[in-house]
Amino acid sequence: MAARVDVLVLGAGAAGLMAAIRAGQRGRRVLVVDHASKPAEKIRISGGGRCNFTNIHAGPKAYLSQNPHFAKSALARYTPQHFIDLVDRHRIAWHEKTLGQLFCDNSATDIIRMLLDELKAAGGELRLGTEIGEIALTESGFRVGLGSEGEVQAQSLIVATGGKSIPKMGATGFAYQIAAQFGLPMVETRPGLVPLTLEPMLLERLSPLSGVSVSASVSHGKTAFREAVLFTHRGLSGPAILQISSYWREGDRITLSLEPDLDLFAALKAAKATRGKQALQTVLADHYPKRLAQHVSDVLGVDRPLADLSDKALQKAALALQSWEIVPGGSEGYRTAEVTVGGIDTRALDSRTMQARDVPGLYFVGECVDVTGWLGGYNFQWAWASGHAAGEAA
Ligand code: FDA
Repeated sequence: MAARVDVLVLGAGAAGLMAAIRAGQRGRRVLVVDHASKPAEKIRISGGGRCNFTNIHAGPKAYLSQNPHFAKSALARYTPQHFIDLVDRHRIAWHEKTLGQLFCDNSATDIIRMLLDELKAAGGELRLGTEIGEIALTESGFRVGLGSEGEVQAQSLIVATGGKSIPKMGATGFAYQIAAQFGLPMVETRPGLVPLTLEPMLLERLSPLSGVSVSASVSHGKTAFREAVLFTHRGLSGPAILQISSYWREGDRITLSLEPDLDLFAALKAAKATRGKQALQTVLADHYPKRLAQHVSDVLGVDRPLADLSDKALQKAALALQSWEIVPGGSEGYRTAEVTVGGIDTRALDSRTMQARDVPGLYFVGECVDVTGWLGGYNFQWAWASGHAAGEAA
């Protein structure tokens, strides 16, 4: 005889734990299973070990999805303030770092401990190191094989096994297999919040810049992010690049404006009038890292005193730094991507409950759904909100 629960949650990550907590609080008998030996490993490593657990500006605009309206309902019903209240109740110290991003003062493990305490208080059971086998639809719900632990029968099944990012940490794309089994459509997946790589020739040319970080606005079509860009030995990284990577597709161009608040052409013209004997690279180094200033003046072949340069040459230098078009060769892929863009097509899900429209009792939450947040705590907020919505309904 299969063991019986009301709600079986697959995946003990951010979304799965939140769903299980909420369902347990409603008096449902809940079991959470995960193949990993520890729960919520991604929370542990997130935010450089301090977990950027939410963003006070989280709203539908900060998410990519084929249906930009889908996330509205869940995000409105479980807000950043709800999560902050929970964190405060557990006396976890936190601070705002920048741009509304909230981090733990001490450690991401504080958040994991909080979720496990909440799960326990809600009466939920957690089983780790458990392989999930066959999933079958039955008259009263779902029967799921749990390897050597036999089978479990559940009225509701919440799939929270995440996306494909960081396979080394146990990411499997398993949720997509379950979606396919039950006939749910998919939006093609690709790595998001990921460093971009450069073609060998360009990489070689930019190699002297490896390690240079500069404030920038990076755009792709009409989308732009203002944060730092970091030149690396593989290509481009830093928050502005990670942000734009979620929008970028193979072959697309991105445009970098370095130090976008500066009117560089005007600054160069003014310098030409007052300190014309100085070399272009010396003046550029007032505003940019030295290596970048040198690189631009080398590439343009204009390492001469400003007085010898025409306004046209100054404008060319300004454009080289503030309207720099690059076609990345690729991305570092799921190996380092923080998230998976795309996933289970939201048309197949009810936005209030996250339940599959055509399979009563089956829910998908978190990263496996085609809702992807910006960098900065937005993805955890989606995990909390979608998990809460399903836990409220399952
Ligand atoms: P998540 O991946 O967290 O959990 C899925 C769970 O399912 C895992 O425990 C996994 O072991 C389990 N699982 C997978 N396949 C299985 C299978 N076949 N059988 C059984 N179990 C299975 N976001 C943010 O908002 N702030 C931040 O600071 C960061 N920082 C960050 C750093 C790094 C390095 C990464 C990779 C990612 C982030 N993120 C982030 C993104 C964030 O981690 C991500 O959006 C959430 O963890 C998604 O939560 P889920 O619960 O959907 O999946």
